[in-house]
Amino acid sequence: MSDLTVYLESDAHRPELRTADAALIAAHLAHAGILYERWNADTSLPDDSDEQAVLQAYAVPIERLKQARRFLRADVVRVTPQTGGIAALRARFLDEHTHGEDEARFFVEGAGAFYIHLKARVFRVVCEAGDLLSIPAGTPHWFDMGPTPRFTTIRFFGRPDGWVAALTGDAIAARFPPFEPDAVPAA
Ligand SMILES: [Fe+2]
Repeated sequence: MSDLTVYLESDAHRPELRTADAALIAAHLAHAGILYERWNADTSLPDDSDEQAVLQAYAVPIERLKQARRFLRADVVRVTPQTGGIAALRARFLDEHTHGEDEARFFVEGAGAFYIHLKARVFRVVCEAGDLLSIPAGTPHWFDMGPTPRFTTIRFFGRPDGWVAALTGDAIAARFPPFEPDAVPAA
């Protein structure tokens, strides 16, 4: 289930707040300037669906967000247990970084956790199918797909170099609980 856990950046063990209520998640994130919405993601995708099939299945909401947020294009990242080089792929997103544009993701299958570092707090958002999350440009964050990742997410881009990540050099990510889909974080 999608959920939000809010920590003080100085205490990764005792969250200030934890909720799985979508309206509360959206409200808390909106207060921090982060867009979170629940979209319909009940189109079942065959295992061999390619990128075009995924984009086609969600063409209407993709177009809507592109228009609303001035994104120019979208692509698809699909990770399954059969994906090669999982450990390296997971590690690529685990260090705190920023981007020059908003990082918008719409999860259509599976799950992963974004950790957003804002104003002395860390917002951990476990995204599942139906979650649209957009992290504002310049906001430090990291992403953990977990040790046995399985997810499909649609990514949105507004400029050709939008995916370039600038590492902050802060080792904060290592202090926070990793994403383990079957584990319940301490509350
Ligand atoms: Fe990122």
